[in-house]
Amino acid sequence: MAPEVGEILISAQEIAGRVRELGALLAREYAGREPVLVAVMKGSVVFLADLVRAWPGPLDLEFVSAESYQGTQAGGVRLVLPQDLGSRVAGQPVVVVDDIYDTGATLEHVCEALRALGPADLRTLVLLRKRLPPEARRGRGRPDWVGFEIENRFVIGYGLDYHGRYRNLPYLAVLGGA
Ligand code: IMP
Ligand code: MG
Repeated sequence: MAPEVGEILISAQEIAGRVRELGALLAREYAGREPVLVAVMKGSVVFLADLVRAWPGPLDLEFVSAESYQGTQAGGVRLVLPQDLGSRVAGQPVVVVDDIYDTGATLEHVCEALRALGPADLRTLVLLRKRLPPEARRGRGRPDWVGFEIENRFVIGYGLDYHGRYRNLPYLAVLGGA
């Protein structure tokens, strides 16, 4: 295996079990409503694909792009929204889905942009949340739902990348040497 792939942090089976729980929980939470899931590309797509198949209820999907990392170094957040997003989310219950909550800057930017489009309700779901000292956080508040809390290490796999690689690993691993 590539030396960049370190210790396995969360196995494919553990991920699958938790994603099933989240799907069931959200289906109950949104019973009788049809939320719009807004996935933050690219990191959330693997999680999203499994989540929606564990969610037995009506929902719609939209995508936004956010890039906040150059390798393992935190930088600014660049957001790209589709032109018709406003008409899709206005007046609707919206759930933002992201891979990982690190400093929280990305989710905060995405939520700010979405709030301006007038959703009926805006909630957030992340697969992972890193344990960081409070002074390292940049987002206010916290995600409404979290799959796993993890230590502050750089992780790859299950959608998460290092310089564009390793998104296709079926498990979550620590970046080798990180
Ligand atoms: P935040 O803006 O600091 O919360 O960072 C969130 C974004 O940075 C995520 O959507 C990821 O794309 C990326 N990111 C943060 N930590 C990691 C990591 O450990 N591995 C891979 N990507 C990460
Ligand atoms: Mg991301």
